[in-house]
Amino acid sequence: MENTIDTIYDRRSIRKYLDKPVNPDLVDEVLRAGMFAPSASNKQPWHFIVFNEKDKIQELKNVHPYTKSLETAPVCIMVCGDTEKEMAKGFYITDCSAATENMLLAAKALGLDTCWVGIYPWEDLMKDYANLLGLPKNIIPFNFIALGYGAETKERPRRYDAEKIHYNKW
Ligand SMILES: Cc1cc2nc3c(=O)[nH]c(=O)nc-3n(C[C@H](O)[C@H](O)[C@H](O)COP(=O)(O)O)c2cc1C
Repeated sequence: MENTIDTIYDRRSIRKYLDKPVNPDLVDEVLRAGMFAPSASNKQPWHFIVFNEKDKIQELKNVHPYTKSLETAPVCIMVCGDTEKEMAKGFYITDCSAATENMLLAAKALGLDTCWVGIYPWEDLMKDYANLLGLPKNIIPFNFIALGYGAETKERPRRYDAEKIHYNKW
């Protein structure tokens, strides 16, 4: 396992995956990491739908214009918000984001790769996926996480930008 700081710097969005299954125990570890994320008032307003069947993932892919990563990912996890559990209106968005980032980093630490595929805030996509999956009214599709063993590598980019840091005043 990499140390945490290297995991943060080396995580990249990967959009091509090997045709290699992911052990369900590893998927479970990634889900567990998501559930360990901070959330407002610790409400944990999230659900995770795991897709590991190629046909099903293809069906999800066809609804969304930016899903190259889902073409080859052996696993795809939909993170959903729960508007009946969130601390106040809209908090599921920040809470699900925190859960997602935990999952991306946990996956990287476990030797896996990921890509965050946004659904929120596209109202049409949120509605289309809710209908396609027959979700209850309070369960809102937030994003997909493509998960698998990457078939491409990417350099660690340079992103540190001193101009974006402000001490004690703007
Ligand atoms: C909210 C959000 C939505 C994103 N949506 C998509 C998407 O729909 N499709 C995709 O291929 N990548 C998506 N990405 C991945 C970004 O393109 C990627 O994080 C960004 O280019 C930086 O690259 P890196 O993740 O390799 O550091 C999304 C990322 C975030 C945080």
